[in-house]
Amino acid sequence: MKLLLIGGGGREHALAWRLSHDPRVHQILAVPGNPGIAQLAQCLPAPKEIEGYAHLAEAERVDLTVVGPEATLVAGIADVFAARGLPIVGPRRKAAQLEGSKIFAKRFFERAGIPTARSHQEAGYQAALDALNRFAYPLVIKADGLAAGKGVTIASNAAEAKEAVMKLGPALVIEEFLEGEEVSFIGISNGSEVFPLAASQDHKRVGDGDRGPNTGGMGAYCDGRILTPAQEADIVDRVMLPAISQMAREGTPFTGFLYAGLMMTADGPKVLEFNVRLGDPETQALLHRMRAGFLELLEFSAGLITTPAARLRAEYSPEPSVCVVLAAGGYPEHPRTGDAITGIDDAENLGATAFHAGTKLAGQRLVTAGGRVLGVTASGADLGGAIEAAYAAAGRIHFDGMHYRRDIGAKGLKRWS
Ligand code: AMP
Ligand code: GLY
Repeated sequence: MKLLLIGGGGREHALAWRLSHDPRVHQILAVPGNPGIAQLAQCLPAPKEIEGYAHLAEAERVDLTVVGPEATLVAGIADVFAARGLPIVGPRRKAAQLEGSKIFAKRFFERAGIPTARSHQEAGYQAALDALNRFAYPLVIKADGLAAGKGVTIASNAAEAKEAVMKLGPALVIEEFLEGEEVSFIGISNGSEVFPLAASQDHKRVGDGDRGPNTGGMGAYCDGRILTPAQEADIVDRVMLPAISQMAREGTPFTGFLYAGLMMTADGPKVLEFNVRLGDPETQALLHRMRAGFLELLEFSAGLITTPAARLRAEYSPEPSVCVVLAAGGYPEHPRTGDAITGIDDAENLGATAFHAGTKLAGQRLVTAGGRVLGVTASGADLGGAIEAAYAAAGRIHFDGMHYRRDIGAKGLKRWS
């Protein structure tokens, strides 16, 4: 098969890496890709208009297109492809609103009966300020639109809450603060059925011990023990299937990856957010562990095969995997760029894979070009071994200003010790 992969971050490098190991894949085109992806795929510049991707898929006789980032989906790439009969993994524009608008998502959870935090949704400063009185502190305030994980404030008192409303408003969700273990749960759907992938855990705050500002994700791990089989079945029944069924009922069937950011509360799983794509850096850990079956899942989602979800299979290594994100100086506020990166070969010689995210070539030199620079990913006989392997490899890499969390996977270690 010839694949077209859209995106140029760590998630897309992991996709290219996993798919390039499939004997049925003979070529991957990546738009725009990155220097890591370029070792596995032919990278092409991004077209100015979304139609350009469809022209490319037609001209290159691509068998299947896979979209990484949400912005391209929210902009409607899947609609353009569908109109031309081009197979694609990813939801159409209307279904992508599940991620594009938090207000839309909260109202959708209500219609579908999906468990979530009690909330107020309103477009308007005064209504939002009034609503603050109906919640206990801490409470959570979220900007409505896409904000790359940075549009959320947890306010511990009225002054902080008012400030956040003025900063993030006027289109806002205000909701109760939920306590529990946060889990990333991703399923892949063909519009009527859903196939669950292994659960993983992200680390959203920039600093150790979950301190400091939110980021796109500073590291993730994937370990078969994150959820019990009963918890996984419960999430499929109470979250994934209701979402897919409700989308179909509303005439906007959801295809592609449905990512539920969940809080595992004392009352069971509750949805914090839906994303309409794979997580980053969850994908790096997840696909590092997956051994077989991924291409069939993509074909299922795009309608290229009609195998029922119950007959699909994804095989995972029993070994847990850990992805440590190496971030640029100044990330997340003001990431610096242009710093020379060294040591990737050394790191990979230790058995890890360094997925590129914010890198670029300046002549012959690899330099930083974004906030999250590399996702150093490794597995081990147990979670402790995977953590050690990922950090040993990360320690071989250098660029000025580099920083990373030292506690990726540590919560899991503590839970299972
Ligand atoms: P979101 O963009 O909705 O996933 O929110 C970003 C992060 O804020 C989440 O990963 C959680 O860590 C935190 N968060 C969001 N909503 C809540 C909530 N209702 N209770 C506690 N933490 C939350
Ligand atoms: N790692 C969180 C996300 O991809 O949204």
